[in-house]
Amino acid sequence: MKNFYITTPIYYVNAKPHLGHAYTTIVADSLSRFHKTLGDNTMFLTGTDEHGDKIVKAAEKQGVSPKEFVDGISGLFQQLWPHLGIENDAFVRTTDEDHKARVQRFLQQVYDAGDIYFGEFGGHYCYGCERFYTEKELENGLCPQHLTKPEFISEKNYFFRMSKYLPWLREYIESHPDFIRPERYRNEVLSMLESGALEDLCISRPKSRLTWGIELPFDKDYVCYVWFDALLNYISALGWPDGEKYKTFWPGEHLVAKDILKPHAVFWPTMLKAAGLPVYQHLNVHGYWLVRDTKMSKSLGNVVEPLEMRQKYGLDAFRYFLLREMHFGSDASFSEEGMVSRINADLANDLGNLFSRVLSMTAKYFESRVPRPGEFSEDDKAIVELCATAMSNYIQLFGNTQFAQGLDSLWELVRALNKYVDSQAPWTLFKQGDTTRLGTVMYVLLSAMRKVALCLWAVMPDASRTLLEQLGQQPGEGPVTTSLEAEAGNFDGLQPGTEVAASSNLFPRIDVKALQQEDPAGKAPKAKKEKKQESPKAAPAAEGRNGEISFDQFKAVEMRAGTVVVAEKHPNADRILRLEIDFDEGQPRQILSGLADYYTPEELVGKQVIAVLNLAPRKIRGLMSNGMVLTAEKDGKLSVLTPAAPVPNGSQIA
Ligand code: MSP
Repeated sequence: MKNFYITTPIYYVNAKPHLGHAYTTIVADSLSRFHKTLGDNTMFLTGTDEHGDKIVKAAEKQGVSPKEFVDGISGLFQQLWPHLGIENDAFVRTTDEDHKARVQRFLQQVYDAGDIYFGEFGGHYCYGCERFYTEKELENGLCPQHLTKPEFISEKNYFFRMSKYLPWLREYIESHPDFIRPERYRNEVLSMLESGALEDLCISRPKSRLTWGIELPFDKDYVCYVWFDALLNYISALGWPDGEKYKTFWPGEHLVAKDILKPHAVFWPTMLKAAGLPVYQHLNVHGYWLVRDTKMSKSLGNVVEPLEMRQKYGLDAFRYFLLREMHFGSDASFSEEGMVSRINADLANDLGNLFSRVLSMTAKYFESRVPRPGEFSEDDKAIVELCATAMSNYIQLFGNTQFAQGLDSLWELVRALNKYVDSQAPWTLFKQGDTTRLGTVMYVLLSAMRKVALCLWAVMPDASRTLLEQLGQQPGEGPVTTSLEAEAGNFDGLQPGTEVAASSNLFPRIDVKALQQEDPAGKAPKAKKEKKQESPKAAPAAEGRNGEISFDQFKAVEMRAGTVVVAEKHPNADRILRLEIDFDEGQPRQILSGLADYYTPEELVGKQVIAVLNLAPRKIRGLMSNGMVLTAEKDGKLSVLTPAAPVPNGSQIA
């Protein structure tokens, strides 16, 4: 059994998780699942990075202690992941005592070996980056990341003799072409190394300036530089130096975006080398998600909330879109329109349609039992061959972080299967009474569909399981297969006689016209599925004469109880309050409500309210509202509805 260890960056806790964090973590999860389907022994680590100036500043801004602050946001990350189908094996926090002790041990080891020294240093310090810049690294005297003027700070500090290991690093990267991949990032690192701008690394901060960090074991007046501390999470979480997990899983695979290339490609391998530890296997670097070609930022108000996407489009579709749309290594642009077209084309038209037509034909022609195949024709053999090629390409590409290409190769098969349905025309075979040929065609289709569903577990775990169940399989808990490579090499696995579902409607089309009508600017389209029972527009037929609504229509309104955790005035609207309400969804939901004339924000915090959650999100004066708080009104006075006795957050109102 092979071991596979995958990590994400540990995220800063100065902001709530957004699309970018979700992407890296979903990729790591898909890779971990993918390796499970190959039968590997896997370990998947994520976590939060909780030390440093930035955290202290953010905590100060909210008037809480750094500890209270980091507990809160780290909790948001930990709660979010299960909602995105993330199954990490461990979650590391840099404020964990265990992590701190291991960082100190590492520092002492490198110090004892003579690779950490004390020296006076004057440098250009950027508070945004929390690091010193050399003269050469500045662009026109400004920090190249933040375009702000760094402060010149001169103080005594501890330094890691990084420069001693740079020639080794350069040689290592040159002789291991895929150590940093894709290639463009490898080249970027090589030119960094050639530029001569890299020097020794300042790895301490005097406590007189910053106390929120790990104390240096050899000098109590200093704390450790946040990056030196953070990078060590990848081995501290494995129990370095003598933990079983460390022995089993190190060296592993790292997954990061291009923003943190340098610490991972330069600091980290030289740190490992200095401590005499093996370096990681690969640094897998991806690009940035942009929103309508601009950087996501809180101030621009274009931050994409992963939970909102999941709620609108479904988790499987969201995960599929992220992996299919971004070519690993390059930037990609996120838009809901893009997501809707991808879902409609790939999931509704191709995959969904295939399952829907083949299962309903099997119901009609073979009473929903997998037929026994006759002899394979040339056309059938071509499908068998394509199935094997598509799967082995998928396996190879996915394993190489080329997710979009891997999925595309699988879709070549899906599209070919739809064409095969058209060219073999089972309905004609049925009319002609050619049961043997009809049985063979249906068997070829069902068998290939099973293979597709097995491959998809890595990306769409729930959908994969449902599709397999529809094919009469019992995937159970855990990975749906542990022998994907063997599955690629045969066309077996589906027993004739197995009972399959009579229909499938896993990925209904999303009505683009309805989206545009609802929001002509196309800014916040609400996915309205064409499935009748889910579409409020399909309702009038059921509407009674006196404006009555059907029971199904009432049921379609999702109302839940939740506790207000934040209440404040809307910055651009006097009568509106901005609420953050905890419905036990992993992170609080923002709802705007015209309550400012009736309640002070303080009166609402801690109160349980009832809200409609499946209302189309609306932007009100620049802020998104994701639901509606229910109120009772009499003579123009509003009063919020609240349960008679406290109920668990998220309780459904019915
Ligand atoms: N704490 C450091 C990492 C320390 S690892 C030892 C850090 N944290 S972060 O919260 O800023 O996370 C950066 C990472 O979040 C990126 O490398 C990437 O994985 C993810 N993303 C954040 N924004 C992103 C996009 N817009 N697009 C894609 N991923 C991005 O840096």
